[in-house]
Amino acid sequence: MRGMQVETLRWRNQKLEMIDQRVLPASLVYQSYDSAAGVAEGIRSMVVRGAPAIGCAAAYGVALEASRLANDHPDIFSAKLEAGFAALAHSRPTAVNLFWALARMRGVWESMRAAAPRQIAARLLHEAHAMLEEDVRINRKMGEHGAALLSQEARVLTHCNAGALATAGHGTALGVIRSAVEAGKRISVIADETRPFLQGARLTAWEMMQEGIPVTLITDGMAGFLMSRGEIDVVIVGADRIAANGDVANKIGTYMVAVLAQRHGLPFYVAAPISTIDLAMASGAGIPIEERDAAEVRGFQERSWAPPGVAVRNPAFDITPAELVTALITERGVVHAPNRERISALLSSS
Ligand code: MRU
Repeated sequence: MRGMQVETLRWRNQKLEMIDQRVLPASLVYQSYDSAAGVAEGIRSMVVRGAPAIGCAAAYGVALEASRLANDHPDIFSAKLEAGFAALAHSRPTAVNLFWALARMRGVWESMRAAAPRQIAARLLHEAHAMLEEDVRINRKMGEHGAALLSQEARVLTHCNAGALATAGHGTALGVIRSAVEAGKRISVIADETRPFLQGARLTAWEMMQEGIPVTLITDGMAGFLMSRGEIDVVIVGADRIAANGDVANKIGTYMVAVLAQRHGLPFYVAAPISTIDLAMASGAGIPIEERDAAEVRGFQERSWAPPGVAVRNPAFDITPAELVTALITERGVVHAPNRERISALLSSS
């Protein structure tokens, strides 16, 4: 019997609760939120992370802010809700799902501007709940499409955490793995530790172990060696933003893995929902890349091992050019050798 999947985000007592992913796997604790500013800080500080999960959190941030302001005069309600949108939009720059979710919430608000704040707040909360449920459905669809690409005993390398913790449930890259396991395949996972925030070591390894899916942890620098020894069959990662031409922004280190996969003739798959595709971005060159605090590279949490004051670069994401992507796995199907035409055909299909 496999273990239950975690609830990364949940609605309890009129508040949003999110697992504090900074302290996993040592502790499994929820933080509680009742405002847009609070949720924005939760996203910025990475209590919640992973593109689809950030999108869902932002939707709840808007809904919480609207209910907090529901007794205000409509003009004050509008001005303050607008400020809530702005706070959420400034939390993290790279994952487009955040902006996608805010745009969807804004669309709902705009469709009922004349309504009373209380009605607007109720409708926005309904939308946030719908987005959370949809995300799980989408991930399951993606999982079905992706599972068909994996051989019976595939050894799958993944980078970062694109699992239940990065989504409303099931996951994108790990969703493909979960679906393949559910379909009876004997999949094993090799998890890159994913410096500097250690999403692979702390989150992917933990998620897989919770469910009894065989997982082996490696440091990021070991992937090439294992590929050269024939110990990896396929790579699957998630994405934070996919440009119109198929370039993929994902966790720092993904590009390195994609180059290695090409060198060793291994398929490199990117599993992501349609909401991760940003047609406004012609190529990966325009995607904003978050630079995080130098302390994350000098050490981890309270510990620092580098010489104090050493210069540091800490880009949190990189760009994998479309030519290195074997296929995109989406809820609408698989796009082999993604390029502008194939992505646009996918988006116009239903
Ligand atoms: O900085 P993070 O942890 O938010 O980065 C997460 C990733 O890069 C994931 O691979 C991506 O969001 C896809 S999650 C389904």
